Amino acid sequence: MAPDNRTALCPGTFDPITYGHLDVIARASAMYDTVIVAVVNVPWRKGKTLFTAEERIAFVGNATRELGNIKVMPFASLLVDFAREQGAMAIVKGLRAISDFEYELEMNQLNRRQAPDVESVYLMASPKYSFLSSSGVKELATFGGNITDLVPDEVASALKERLGR
Ligand code: PNS
Repeated sequence: MAPDNRTALCPGTFDPITYGHLDVIARASAMYDTVIVAVVNVPWRKGKTLFTAEERIAFVGNATRELGNIKVMPFASLLVDFAREQGAMAIVKGLRAISDFEYELEMNQLNRRQAPDVESVYLMASPKYSFLSSSGVKELATFGGNITDLVPDEVASALKERLGR
C-alpha cells in the first residue's frame, strides 16, 4: 500500500491497555485521520502475556470506540514492515521517563536502519499518567491494590479475576 501521511501507528503489547496508553492514543487520534493501534501478537516475545492477543485487542477496541478513527490490529512482523503494509508514515509512541527514552532511542535507531522513510513521533506522557505502566498495574492487581483510576472498568475486572488472590 502506498504511504498515506494521514495514518499513524500506535504500537505496543498492551498487556493490558492503561489510561496512559489511551491518553497517547487519544492525542494521536486528534493529530491523524486514522490511527492504527498495532497490538504485538508474538507469543514467545518477552515471555508470555497475561492476556491473549484477542483479549488485548478487545480491551483496546472497547476503550477507543468513541474516538471514531481508530483501528485495532494484531501484528507479528517487524514494526516498520507493518507500518509500510498499512500505509502509515508515522509511528507514535508515548515517553514517560528517561528509562523510556533510552529504550525508545535504541528502538528508533533500529527501526530507522530498516526503514528510514517511516518516521517516529514521541508524545510526552501527561503528568497524571507518567508513573503508569501495564506491569505496575498487574503488580497492584496481584496484591489487591486500587486500580480503578488506572485502567478501564472492563480491564480492572479482568485483572482482578485473573490475578486477585
Ligand atoms: O512497549 P512494548 O510493548 O515492548 O513495545 C512493542 C514494540 C513493538 C512497539 C517495540 O518493541 C518496538 O518498537 N519494536 C521495534 C522492533 C520490532 O519491530 N520488533 C518486532 C515486534 S513484533
